[in-house]
Formats: sequence, C-alpha cells, structure tokens
Amino acid sequence: MNDRFLRACRREPVDRVPVWYMRQAGRYDPDYRKIKEKYTLLEICRQPELAAEVTMMPVRKLGVDAAILYSDIMNPVASIGIDFDIVKDIGPVIHNPVRSAADVDRLKPVDPEGDLGHVLETIRILDRELGVPLISFAGAPFTLASYLVEGKPSKSYMRTKALMYGDPETWHKLMGKLADMAAAYLRAHAAAGAKAVQLFDSWVGSLAPHDFAAFVQPHVESIFAQLADLSLPKIYFPGVSSGELLPLLTDLRADVVGLDWRVPLSEGRRRTGGRFAVQGNLDPYVLTAPMDVIQAHARRLVDEGTREPGFIFNLGHGLYPEASLDKLRELTEYVHAYSAQKLSSSEVSS
Ligand code: CP3
Repeated sequence: MNDRFLRACRREPVDRVPVWYMRQAGRYDPDYRKIKEKYTLLEICRQPELAAEVTMMPVRKLGVDAAILYSDIMNPVASIGIDFDIVKDIGPVIHNPVRSAADVDRLKPVDPEGDLGHVLETIRILDRELGVPLISFAGAPFTLASYLVEGKPSKSYMRTKALMYGDPETWHKLMGKLADMAAAYLRAHAAAGAKAVQLFDSWVGSLAPHDFAAFVQPHVESIFAQLADLSLPKIYFPGVSSGELLPLLTDLRADVVGLDWRVPLSEGRRRTGGRFAVQGNLDPYVLTAPMDVIQAHARRLVDEGTREPGFIFNLGHGLYPEASLDKLRELTEYVHAYSAQKLSSSEVSS
C-alpha cells in the first residue's frame, strides 16, 4: 500500500510529496463521460461495482497517491428526509427546501446502514482493491445548508443567511442535525474501510469571521470532536476565500487543513497555529497554461510546502470539466520527481 498520503497527513517524513486532486473523478475524463451518457451520478452511486470503478479510474490514469470516493456531498441527505436531484449543468436541486422551524423538526437522523448501504459497499470493495488510501468525505453543515435552504446552487446565499441572522434558534438546530449526520456518516465510512475523511465546507468563506465563529464553528468542531476517537487522518477544507477564517481553526480536532490559492502555504500554516498538515493549493485554472508555466507553479508550491513536514499537493478547489487529463498526469509525475529530488537532498522532509 502506498501510504505517502497518510504519512503526510500525520506530518511524518515522506520520500516524495503525495498528490491528489479535488474532483479527480469526473468529466475531464472521456471514459467517465461515456459512463455518464448511460447513468446519472446517483445511479452510479447506487451500483457499488461501478462507483468503485469510477473511483479507481483517476488513480490508474493520473498516478495520484489517494483516491476519493465517487459520491456527492448531497448523498446522505436523502436519508434524513430531503428530496433532491443533481441536475445537469446546475447541480443539486432540492424539491422540499428547508426554510422553517417545522422543516428542520421533520429531519430524521441519518441511517447509514439502512439507507446508504450502497455507499458502504463501495467503500468495502475499494478497501479490497485499491493500492492507495481511500478518502471518504461529507459536506459540512454550512455548505449543505446553503443547498437545503436555497433549494439550488446560489452565489449570494441570501436565504441561507436570512435564516441564520433572522432565526438563530432554527439555524442552530439545523446545523446541529447536519453536524450529527456528517459525524455518523463518516464514522460508518471509517468502519467500512475508508482511510481518511475530508469535510468539504466549500462555501463557508462567504461568512465574516465573527459570523463563522457564532453560527458555524461550534458545529464544525462538534463533527471532529465526535470523530476524535478514530485514529484516521481528518481533513477540513474551508473552501474558497476562507483565508480570513483560518485563525479560528487552531483548536479544531483535525489533522489537515485544505487551503485555497489565495493564501500562501506558509501563511496558511502560520494562521492555523502550525499544528496542521496543509493541502492545496494550485489555482485550478493554472491548468489552462502551457506545461512549463504549470511546472513553475508546482515548483513554487513544492518549495514552500516542503519547508515543514506535512504537505499534500492538491488544487485550491475542484477540477473543472475542461481540464486536460494529459496535463494532470504530467503534473503528477512532475511533482513526484521534483519533490523526490528535493527531499533526498535536504534534511527537512515533509
Ligand atoms: O472526484 C471527486 O472529487 C469525488 C466525487 C465528488 C463529487 N462531488 C461528484 C460530482 C465530490 C468530492 C463532490 C463534492 C461536492 N459536491 C462539493 C464539494 C467540493 C466542491 O467542489 O466545492 C460540492 C459543493 C458538491 C455539490 C455539487 N455536486 C455541485 C455544486 C455540483 C454541480 C457542479 C458541477 O461541478 O457539475 C455537483 C454535481 C457533481 N458531483 C458532479 C460530480 C462528478 C458533476 C455532475 C456529474 O458528473 O453528474
């Protein structure tokens, strides 16, 4: 088993910098697009053999050091009573949005074994077949609430913030239920064989630090506290434009913080108190550039990231559909080769 990724999460020495890409299973791959002509995302997820295959495709094609479960942050919310679809070119669309105290009251606890057995079965298959660690994931409470309350993807999060500012009691009840859902769901993933977990809080950077502290932070902390007895590495990804929130994360019981590209790696380390491994943070659109430009950015990140132990090469946000498979493969090889040379010639290893 290639455990380079897990070692970097724990800030142990590695022979070269581990690489994976957020949204690495996806539409930039023509073979994936062929599968998508036949099945929707949710239909793939309900077929464990196929979902496992889609999870493994980027590992084989890109040479990455970790796999991320093929699923979506919306998957578990069906189990708590949310009726949704993932609509092509839009994203998650909710048929019964959560807008009132009564809507929150009717949400049930998640039942991973009863309602999401197909996800657990996919993890069990991957646990047998993968040669790299499997990362499973859940959506963080704010990011999930932004879909459940708005009813669809939003740029302003107006309804979400209206509930948050206007009815804090209902807001905290909703966040508490979503936090408990994430914790129970990820615990079931760990029992099925996931080797690391990532909490995606993609849109929480839309909040000011004082609002993050008042309305979100206790619930994110609750998730990691509920998982504290599990020894597997835990990653918090506070999403895009989250640099100002980083100083609030110092006490989080996680091992790795994901950074977006606006925050230099060393600054991300400093703001979070120096106790986390860092993951990131190439601007995904750097991948539109010629290979020599991409490599220059990769060198900059590896040079900065390997100054201290605990660096995982990734993007600052997910891959976009037009990304090039060939460039991604070449980038992975380049980061491996450049960092291997650097780490073997220096005392400090990451
Ligand atoms: O490769 C991987 O990273 C694993 C699979 C994965 C998906 N979604 C599959 C997916 C992961 C980790 C996610 C997480 C996810 N889903 C996030 C957090 C990460 C991020 O990008 O910020 C969010 C916010 C969602 C919600 C979501 N799902 C949106 C906004 C969309 C539509 C936008 C888009 O990219 O199309 C989806 C659909 C979705 N989830 C797709 C995939 C591969 C694309 C549509 C499809 O192929 O059916």
